[in-house]
Amino acid sequence: MISKATIQEIQNKIDIEDIVGAFVKLKRRGSNYLGLCPFHNEKSPSFTVSKAKQIYKCFGCGKSGNSISFLMELEKYSYVEALRWLANKYNIEIEETEATPESKIYQQAADSLFVINNFGQKFFSEALFETDEGQDVGLSYLKQRGFREDIIKKFQLGYNPVGGDVFAKAALAAQYNQDLLQKSGLVVLRDNGLKDNYRERIIFPIHNQSGKVLGFGARLIKSNDKAPKYINTPENEIYVKSKILYGSYFARVAIDKADECLLVEGYTDVVSLHQAGVENVVASGGTSLTPDQLRLVKKYTNNLTIIYDGDGAGVKAAVRGMDLALEEGLNVRLVLIPDKEDPDSYVNKIGATAFKEFVANNKKDFVIFQLGLSLAEAGNDSTKKATIVQKIAETISKITKTEHFTKRQDYVKQVAEMLKIEEAGLNDLVNKFIREKVQKEEGRQIAASNEEFANVEQEITENTGLENLFKKDEYQERAIIRSLLEFGLKQWNEDITVADYIFKEIDDNELELMIENENLVSILHLYKGWYLEGKKPTDENFLYYEDVTLSNLVINLMDSQTEISANWAKIFEGKIATREDLFREEVLSTLAYFKLRKLKKLIIENQKELENALSSEDQLLCLQTHVALKHAEQVITKELGTVIFRL
Ligand code: GTP
Ligand code: MN
Repeated sequence: MISKATIQEIQNKIDIEDIVGAFVKLKRRGSNYLGLCPFHNEKSPSFTVSKAKQIYKCFGCGKSGNSISFLMELEKYSYVEALRWLANKYNIEIEETEATPESKIYQQAADSLFVINNFGQKFFSEALFETDEGQDVGLSYLKQRGFREDIIKKFQLGYNPVGGDVFAKAALAAQYNQDLLQKSGLVVLRDNGLKDNYRERIIFPIHNQSGKVLGFGARLIKSNDKAPKYINTPENEIYVKSKILYGSYFARVAIDKADECLLVEGYTDVVSLHQAGVENVVASGGTSLTPDQLRLVKKYTNNLTIIYDGDGAGVKAAVRGMDLALEEGLNVRLVLIPDKEDPDSYVNKIGATAFKEFVANNKKDFVIFQLGLSLAEAGNDSTKKATIVQKIAETISKITKTEHFTKRQDYVKQVAEMLKIEEAGLNDLVNKFIREKVQKEEGRQIAASNEEFANVEQEITENTGLENLFKKDEYQERAIIRSLLEFGLKQWNEDITVADYIFKEIDDNELELMIENENLVSILHLYKGWYLEGKKPTDENFLYYEDVTLSNLVINLMDSQTEISANWAKIFEGKIATREDLFREEVLSTLAYFKLRKLKKLIIENQKELENALSSEDQLLCLQTHVALKHAEQVITKELGTVIFRL
């Protein structure tokens, strides 16, 4: 772990103009810098860098962040990798902190497993190329399948001899720890001795993103009904199947370049396609994609093309992972290989050029493909067709990110046409699924009174007539956090600060419950913690905060509003009030909003109590409470109206 002091030192040295300037040609424009956005294709520059705020923002694609998130986004670095890059750039020596005992043990096991795997990989490669048995059995098998030597070497394929414990003996002679050897999966304990787990098999090493060997796949050479075709490394400290895509180490550059990732099922498919010059390819091992694997793909590209054999079970497995892919905003396409071939056999059969053409000409949109498949299956059965409509609407509803709105609408249009149903009806159905999902996520606290509670938004809107300001709770949630960050340290009156005032007006625990965006809650938490410790937190404390999601959110929060008011002040030569002048109103109006939400909740609870009240005394009490709450609600609504009209 990098020490806090080192991180601080790096943060002090960072200059965003320097960092971004290393990748983007920047021109000075007033107090900012302007250049062509590295995150999307553009001809005229809309990528701005603010030296004063140490942030960047692209007005074309909307990406924004600080120096560290810039490196993470552009170079696909992790947070720590970005810090190391910066330390190197500024000649800062990295001080490492002591790890906890558990993580130390874990780290040691992980390190040893890498060492053992490295030993294994070298041993198997040597056995393949430099022993008679390896050449006769292993190499001749690979060559007969059409693999060239340069490709076998590039993928570090190997051979585990037939003897039974040839590898085990070598590993013990090299003094590797027996427990760790078993953990690596290279050997198993049998008849009181360590035996080779992969004997008489071709070995496919599986590499991580930096080329170190995480584990192996081992393929039978002679077909054998009793033994599985492949044996893979068991899960251990470094081999975590759900996070691994075979071939990603060799594919990363090509994926970036092609802006597309091809996904196949098997090890041999990856190796053969490489040999044919198709290098942007990874394999899932025949199971459906996991969220971690999808994330790995998404680091490099938004375009995923699945190449599976047409009638294999693989497509079914893939389908299961795909809703998730849509949710993540990936464009998923599918190419089916015909005639019971797989990509490996097909490319060998028709040759590299024809294969590339075939893939290029046979990409189908995954959602549309899925629909076609189920429609063919349903035939004229109208019940089945109704189920299909529901299902496809649910699939489309997974595309929820605002930036993918057009894509969703395109699907609605296409699918409605295919199903011969009204576009508007399908749209309603899709929206219903989206609403349901949103409600499920938010329903943690207010399950029963959910619907009624949601009406508060509408009521306020009607009362004030200011629909657009209240379109979203999110707007208010963001506003209250922004008020804290921007004005929290200002004096509210002679005695207390704005932060004190906000925390006094609405119990901070309650505020947390009412804010539904978890990241905003985290920011509130952190702010509160720092504030109570006597630090003077502002948005700047979040600029290099270790959780990049939070720091980016803060940058985003602060960014939009202040930019606008600064411009306004300029355009109207300072005649118009700035946010600075209006901060009291802003704080009052957001607080009023939260108070109203709370009141509405109380009213609903009280109504429930009234329904259940048995004695007339209880009923009277409830009614009195109702009147009082309603009155309070009116007062606040009125206040809110005037505050907002003054704004
Ligand atoms: P070849 O038959 O040599 O061309 O290999 P292949 O990769 O084409 O194999 P196949 O299409 O049968 O399987 C695809 C992938 O599923 C393999 O690459 C393995 O990752 C995995 N797989 C196949 N068979 C087994 C097995 O018996 N056990 C395990 N654990 N995985 C398997
Ligand atoms: Mn195959």
